[in-house]
Amino acid sequence: MRVITSVAAMQRLALRWRRRGARVGCVPTMGYLHAGHLSLVRCARRLVGPKGKVVVSIFVNPTQFAPTEDLARYPRDLKRDRELCRETGTDVIFAPTERQMYPADYSTFVVEERLSRPMEGESRPTHFRGVATVVAKLFNIVLPDVAVFGAKDFQQAAVVQRMVRDLNFPVKIVLAPTVREVDGLALSSRNKYLEGPLRAQAVALSQAIAKAREAVKRGASVKADALRSELREFIEEQPAARVDYIEFFNPVTLEKVDSVDRRTHMALAVFLGATRLIDNGPLDGKGG
Ligand code: PAJ
Repeated sequence: MRVITSVAAMQRLALRWRRRGARVGCVPTMGYLHAGHLSLVRCARRLVGPKGKVVVSIFVNPTQFAPTEDLARYPRDLKRDRELCRETGTDVIFAPTERQMYPADYSTFVVEERLSRPMEGESRPTHFRGVATVVAKLFNIVLPDVAVFGAKDFQQAAVVQRMVRDLNFPVKIVLAPTVREVDGLALSSRNKYLEGPLRAQAVALSQAIAKAREAVKRGASVKADALRSELREFIEEQPAARVDYIEFFNPVTLEKVDSVDRRTHMALAVFLGATRLIDNGPLDGKGG
């Protein structure tokens, strides 16, 4: 396994692979890897085969953080990430410096204008501009045939998928299921911030999705507003929890629905103290 920090070196290697006909799989991450990330790496390996190449990018992308957010304290541990990638069959870790990715006079951004508007886009207005920009750059540097994203960040995957279609990137986007702790908490690098009683309270997010699923199973027609209020109250029974949003939407268009049924997807963002967690899932009872 190689660790490459230079954009030019990564792109040269990717071009060489492509000329030789090797399939390339890419897993974009911000590092501090956990079992969720590693499931994407395994998925990429399955997709490209034993002779293919798997690139894991590790880059805490400054353009997707607002000035008020946790960029400076975002957890980092490249040494550990390196071990985990090696054990999981990664060929190359691409870990560029900030200056490599964004020279001082950098001035080009990619903006998806529809799917990035609601939910995360409302709470974090410049977030998906940063995500789309860095993912577009990664695709041009790593030249993957296939890139794997986690269902944990459902809206992010939808925005990336739309960008790839609209800008004709020759890459296939694959969505891998959310990996969870035994109590249902979705794995996240930010779970590291959950100290003391916060960790136990964080289970309220996945429990809220399970409750919505039960409501859909019980009732033919469930009003989104009523269900939202009920779930907000349920979550905020946890002393440190404050709901940012709970949304019910069509999983293809991401448009909000007034009436919730088995075709509906739910997403939510909740502050636990200063830590903001997100989760989502389909309400058809099939998990995800
Ligand atoms: P990061 O939060 O590190 O996540 C990298 C990838 O891992 C994303 O596709 C995310 O959806 C997936 N992932 C995270 N937690 C997961 C879990 N519990 N189960 C399955 N997959 C999970 O998302 C980003 O980084 C960045 O926005 C990035 C796409 C790298 C652009 O900077």
